[in-house]
Amino acid sequence: MHRATLCIPPHTLPKKSWEILMSDLKNHFGDDASLEEEDRKNILYFLLENSAENSTKEVSVKVLNSIENKDIIAITQTPFWKNEHKNIKKEVFEHPQVKSKANCKACHSDIEKGLIEDEKIKDISSFM
Ligand code: HEC
Repeated sequence: MHRATLCIPPHTLPKKSWEILMSDLKNHFGDDASLEEEDRKNILYFLLENSAENSTKEVSVKVLNSIENKDIIAITQTPFWKNEHKNIKKEVFEHPQVKSKANCKACHSDIEKGLIEDEKIKDISSFM
């Protein structure tokens, strides 16, 4: 089970965050997301190869600038993310179809493809 790890696109976090995250899967945001060592290594390798440092996407650059050298492992804690979502009411994130800030896909339909662009964002008024 690595749903929690992979719902966030690799290019939205720097290497350091992925390393911290993947080294403590027993306490993965309140879930035990432990993996077989080989799977863990493969996933970590994939995440590092595709991390924000290795991406030229606009969001990667913004996240890197925003995280600086802090030990942030959740994009939702970055000043960049908070700023982009500051106009969204708390109730929207609590909506049954959203449930959590980390459920990017509820609002960013194409997020697995790494596309986080304004035109791909769903109309969140249905969550209000
Ligand atoms: C409740 C819906 C919702 C959730 C959940 C959500 N977002 Fe967003 N996000 C939005 C909306 C709406 C905007 C546009 C805000 C604006 O333009 O004022 C946005 C903007 C963004 C932007 C800026 C896009 C751009 O082109 O400038 C990024 C990057 C982003 N979100 C990433 C994420 C990530 C990563 C997650 C999951 C950790 C996430 N969002 C979760 C609704 C959401």
